[in-house]
Amino acid sequence: MEKTLLIIKPDGVQRGLVGEILGRIEKKGFKISAMKLEKISKEKAGIHYAEHAGKGFYSELLEFITSSPSVLAVIEGKNVIDGVRKMAGKTNPLESDLGTIRGDFAVAVSHNVVHTSDGPESSKREIENFFSNEEIQTHILCT
Ligand code: CMP
Repeated sequence: MEKTLLIIKPDGVQRGLVGEILGRIEKKGFKISAMKLEKISKEKAGIHYAEHAGKGFYSELLEFITSSPSVLAVIEGKNVIDGVRKMAGKTNPLESDLGTIRGDFAVAVSHNVVHTSDGPESSKREIENFFSNEEIQTHILCT
């Protein structure tokens, strides 16, 4: 079954949005297959955001994502990569529809509450950066 990486970023954790966000994901019918609270290291952040190295906002992005704990979760389900991306909304919260996580809970692109994988290749790579195979549980899925 398809998997994606969801990060509830430091702003989402500090603002107490973890339950709200995970509740939406679960109510949609997706399953949490792995989850942990972790202060992301500079090394893992650099791997995760390698495609943004050299961009103007890169150092701010790394500073922010490593500033305090994030919730890291592997989410599983049918078409989960696109499904969770739709639930997250556009990267810029001010362009995100109301009803999406970013549209409802954020105003700044730098503090946009969640990260979600954008395709099958990035999902595999991002999950491997944060989770070992042993940490990922198997569900009997009944959506
Ligand atoms: P995310 O989905 O985690 O992927 C890369 C992140 O870079 C993105 O969400 C934004 O939070 C962040 N980002 C993108 N553009 C900017 C920007 N102009 N300024 C600051 N952060 C940005």
